[in-house]
Amino acid sequence: MPLSEMPSALETGHPTIDQEHRQLLSCMSSLRRICIDPERLVDCAGCSARQRGLCETSLVSLLGDLFAIILEHFSSEEKIMRDLALRVIDPELCAAHTEDHAHISGKVQEIVAALDPMQTAQRIRDLDQLLCKWVRHHIEMHDVMLMRRLGDDHAELLRIFNKAP
Ligand SMILES: [Fe+2]
Ligand SMILES: [Fe+2]
Repeated sequence: MPLSEMPSALETGHPTIDQEHRQLLSCMSSLRRICIDPERLVDCAGCSARQRGLCETSLVSLLGDLFAIILEHFSSEEKIMRDLALRVIDPELCAAHTEDHAHISGKVQEIVAALDPMQTAQRIRDLDQLLCKWVRHHIEMHDVMLMRRLGDDHAELLRIFNKAP
């Protein structure tokens, strides 16, 4: 998927959340610049040992940045769900959303565990696929839906929230 900007269908309308999603797109752009031809290189055997080291170092550094984005972003969204008592109104929506966050984090950890300097091109493909799926499916199914529910139910949420002891 092209990464120039977030498609309007995936804008949630929440400034912090949309800004964090743009950080994710920027991380994906950086990922696609690490390897000279990540779509066609089966493995890294054709590159020099020095180049393999550079690519692996870049990928490890990007994964560090990605973990920081994940930690901050998932906690932003989960805080919104907690603070607005959406859990009381629609606990299944919140549970499915939080579960998908855990699933995405777990998949990134699997990629970290499989790092291998001869397979950096493949790990880049794996991570790119995972991040595309996150943007296409998770943001559309969970994040946009969350903000829509907050919009629809805002008055009801406030009423329940204000009533809480
Ligand atoms: Fe989310
Ligand atoms: Fe999100």
